[in-house]
Amino acid sequence: MAFGRVPREFIDDLLVRADVVEVINARVPLKKKGREYTACCPFHNEKTPSFTVSPSKQFYHCFGCGVHGSALSFLMEYEHLDFIEAIESLADSLGIPVPREQSGKGPSQAQLQRAKNLFTLLEDANKYYQLQLKSAPNAIEYLNNRELSQKIIQRFNIGYAPVGWDNILKTFSNSYSEQQLIDSGLVIQKEENNKKYDRYRDRIMFPIRNRKGQVVGFGGRVLGDEKPKYINSPETTVFHKGSELYGFYEARLNTQKLDRIIVVEGYMDVIALAQFGVSYAVATLGTATTSDHLKQLFRAVPEVIFCFDGDRAGREAAWRALENAIPMTQDGKEIRFLFLPDGEDPDTQIRKIGKDAFEAAYDQATSLTAYFIEKLNERFNITSDEGKARFLGEASKHLKNMPDTLIKDQLLARLAKLTNVGIKTLSRRDLINNEKRSEPSLSFSRLSNREVRQTPIRYAVSLLLSDPTLVKYIDNFEQIALSELPGSDLLTTLIETIQESPQINAAALLERWRNTEFEAPLIHLMKWQPETDDEDVLRCELQDCLRQIRKRANEIKIEEMIHKARTTGLNDQETEEYAFLLRNRD
Ligand code: UTP
Ligand code: MN
Repeated sequence: MAFGRVPREFIDDLLVRADVVEVINARVPLKKKGREYTACCPFHNEKTPSFTVSPSKQFYHCFGCGVHGSALSFLMEYEHLDFIEAIESLADSLGIPVPREQSGKGPSQAQLQRAKNLFTLLEDANKYYQLQLKSAPNAIEYLNNRELSQKIIQRFNIGYAPVGWDNILKTFSNSYSEQQLIDSGLVIQKEENNKKYDRYRDRIMFPIRNRKGQVVGFGGRVLGDEKPKYINSPETTVFHKGSELYGFYEARLNTQKLDRIIVVEGYMDVIALAQFGVSYAVATLGTATTSDHLKQLFRAVPEVIFCFDGDRAGREAAWRALENAIPMTQDGKEIRFLFLPDGEDPDTQIRKIGKDAFEAAYDQATSLTAYFIEKLNERFNITSDEGKARFLGEASKHLKNMPDTLIKDQLLARLAKLTNVGIKTLSRRDLINNEKRSEPSLSFSRLSNREVRQTPIRYAVSLLLSDPTLVKYIDNFEQIALSELPGSDLLTTLIETIQESPQINAAALLERWRNTEFEAPLIHLMKWQPETDDEDVLRCELQDCLRQIRKRANEIKIEEMIHKARTTGLNDQETEEYAFLLRNRD
């Protein structure tokens, strides 16, 4: 359920008012070191501090594990909050209320009211189903046969939807409108004759909670062997299968220190695991794991283990999960795959072998890279040249979606070794991004200028990030905007954004581009710190960059003109432009 958007200006302002040093220091004591602050990184184990906080950029970065971001990112990572919750927490600590936009993309007040009613309706239905279970001996017997403890039935609020077509309709018609009953997914309206009836009849009911603990939908299981075995709530305004995970809320609530999550296929798997002490399992709701699911999981824990049945369906589901996981790979976040013996699911397996043996099997779980190679190896025979080519073709298709990480480097190294193709050749196949990567360094300021200077555009971006007010020295950047030099779009957007919001700082700029293509290059360039604060020096450097960029843009244009003159020829206007460009060549 999305609430009104938080206005962007508010987020900018919040990040200007908040102090990242203060926010972090309140949770992880920092030591001052030169112009920066350091500590042992709270996100990975280390003995010597490589976690660095820059007060001028309002940005932190760990040179050990690579975590980085603004005060908001820190709160998200450290306190497992989502973006909006982090904004609320930060605003709260400064005593500022968070405004919400009314119009535009966000829902209206009336929509919010309706959604609120849907939440209460779903919670009321949840209570109703739980109550019905008490007086349904057949349902109680079913749960007994499946050996669910009383405690676990209560923890997961398992209920029962009685036999009959209109129990919900009758029970709730006084407190809710028929439209609300339909909107909640509890009642179905037939298209042909508008007749309404309860969706769930004679089924064991599993309420699905969102991350705030609100009931957003249900899964309902038949007591016998009829089909379909499970019915899930349809997509509603409060329930989106692609972003909800069954058991996530309960896992947070019942696990003392959540440091890994296991993703299973079914409701009963989550519940049985919890009953046996594996309280940190979640299930997708009859869909493949989406990147949104993974994003949420990685916000909460550094390690996700997918657990699949050993059968063919399980292996297929695993490959789909892998495909969705590839764009989400991050250093410091681990994805592994655990396959159960054929014929078992987590429910039957933990009952058979118990918690300790179940958890011990994690050691045998396959890493994402190993599974990737294993699957490709199964499909292509790399002993032939043709097979090798197809193997690499398929690999590159997936690797293109993989961010530049150490995990990717490792995978490339393994592919190179396996196929006897050099890394350089692999990279020419587009297996790796064109971005040059930098050596890890120990401090913001120790990243050498030369490294960032590789292109004047990058250097200009770094200068603006280190001090956005330098934008006042930039005029006339249309030529840069129009050039197709790599990075010119980033630089242009950055200049325009700072011109629009002159007070903005680097952390707020970064937040603007969270989850966009610009995020990674910005973070990379953010790590660099100029060696001086002297504004005159910085101004000269920036202007020098811009001169070089213009010059390069000019050269490219001239080359294009020469090419055109040789091939199709130039018209009058182009000839004039060409002459102009040549005159201005310095
Ligand atoms: P399974 O068929 O593996 O069932 O479906 P299960 O979890 O082992 O259930 P039990 O042990 O027989 O009770 C796995 C998951 O796939 C979805 C459900 O989310 C289920 O938990 N599913 C399955 C459906 O949505 N509809 C179905 O008809 C079947
Ligand atoms: Mn099962």
